[in-house]
Amino acid sequence: MAGVRLDRVTKQFGKVTALDSFSLDVVDGEFMVFVGPSGCGKTTALRIIAGLEESTSGSVTIGGRVVDDIPAKDRDIAMVFQSYALYPHMTVYQNMAFGLRIRLLKSWWWQLTHGAEAKQRKQEIDRRVKEAADLLGIDNLLQRRPRELSGGQRQRVALGRAIVREPKVFLMDEPLSNLDAKLRVQTRAELIRLHRRLGITTIYVTHDQTEAMTMGDRIAVLKDGLLQQVATPDELYRRPDNTFVASFIGSPAMNLIETQTDGGMAKLGDSEFPVPSDAASSKIVLGIRPEEFRPDGPGVELRPVVDVVEPLGATKTVVLNLKGQNLVASLDADVELIEGEPLSLWVKPQSVHFFDVASGEAIRYNAGDAVAVPKEGSSGTT
Ligand SMILES: Nc1ncnc2c1ncn2[C@@H]1O[C@H](COP(=O)(O)OP(=O)(O)OP(=O)(O)O)[C@@H](O)[C@H]1O
Ligand SMILES: [Mg+2]
Repeated sequence: MAGVRLDRVTKQFGKVTALDSFSLDVVDGEFMVFVGPSGCGKTTALRIIAGLEESTSGSVTIGGRVVDDIPAKDRDIAMVFQSYALYPHMTVYQNMAFGLRIRLLKSWWWQLTHGAEAKQRKQEIDRRVKEAADLLGIDNLLQRRPRELSGGQRQRVALGRAIVREPKVFLMDEPLSNLDAKLRVQTRAELIRLHRRLGITTIYVTHDQTEAMTMGDRIAVLKDGLLQQVATPDELYRRPDNTFVASFIGSPAMNLIETQTDGGMAKLGDSEFPVPSDAASSKIVLGIRPEEFRPDGPGVELRPVVDVVEPLGATKTVVLNLKGQNLVASLDADVELIEGEPLSLWVKPQSVHFFDVASGEAIRYNAGDAVAVPKEGSSGTT
């Protein structure tokens, strides 16, 4: 097993900077997720780690060894792609064993001249394939051909092919994107269980923030080739470093509202929120997660008008209008709402995020800042 370190890795494709001085330490045994919008450099980063792409500058270390000059096949990693190709004419067993046979059994000539050793290695391959098949629950499919399998089963064969190699590091590039929603959730859980059992360092690429949040020990958020933040899912959700991370992580997305500050308070409708003392300009971006709107206090009361209600079963997503400002709230299904009518909602001042208008960087409360929770009814409008 091994950790992976990226040290200021940059990749230019002509004028396009796919990765811009990307530095990251993936700890041994960690499940790290790379997430970000299309084109942000996720696949490029994986391919550079795998050795399938050369970086323009910077360095990659796997298991304490600088691998920049080591070819892909000697890096001891296994990669699972979005579009995995199984050999159609081979059985599941043969598909899974194929890479290992090439590596361990070399040529027919080597096998002829190394009879005993070749036999031992064949047994080793057989053991690994059967173990992996067992782990993935496809041990009853070993004699089938790919066309006789469902999409999810094929996906598992592709994973199995990576597992049998017993690599130091797994690299997975959106391996579940071909699966339907239900199967994706199920396979996601299987992958997590698999990681717990094998403990192999894994870097997993997705553009789906839900997938990132449910799978990652830590998540690296990328945008335009630049690392925005790397943290645990909880930390990313609670303390996003900038407006991009704030709006990318969480669903529905955080409300980001540009507003004026006055006397240490930021205005929202007729209500006010205390601003961190570090805020320098007279404008600030206020961030409120949809799930932080509560039908009861304590907190700061807001009186928006209900615009649109989207029922989602246990919760409902509500588009609100606060003096011309659109807000999205996530409320329990049993909160009664009438479209076109005003509604009282409360927000705790401590749950509000603040960002610099110009840079988008988070501004946080300091220890000395007073973030008193107003008593019910003592703030806001009536
Ligand atoms: N071989 C290439 N030649 C030129 N440009 C490339 C090449 N590969 C990637 N790029 C560019 O580099 C940037 C990053 O691409 P990359 O494939 O890493 O994005 P990604 O985050 O994996 O996106 P997606 O979520 O769509 O898979 C994009 O702007 C892309 O167009
Ligand atoms: Mg990609």
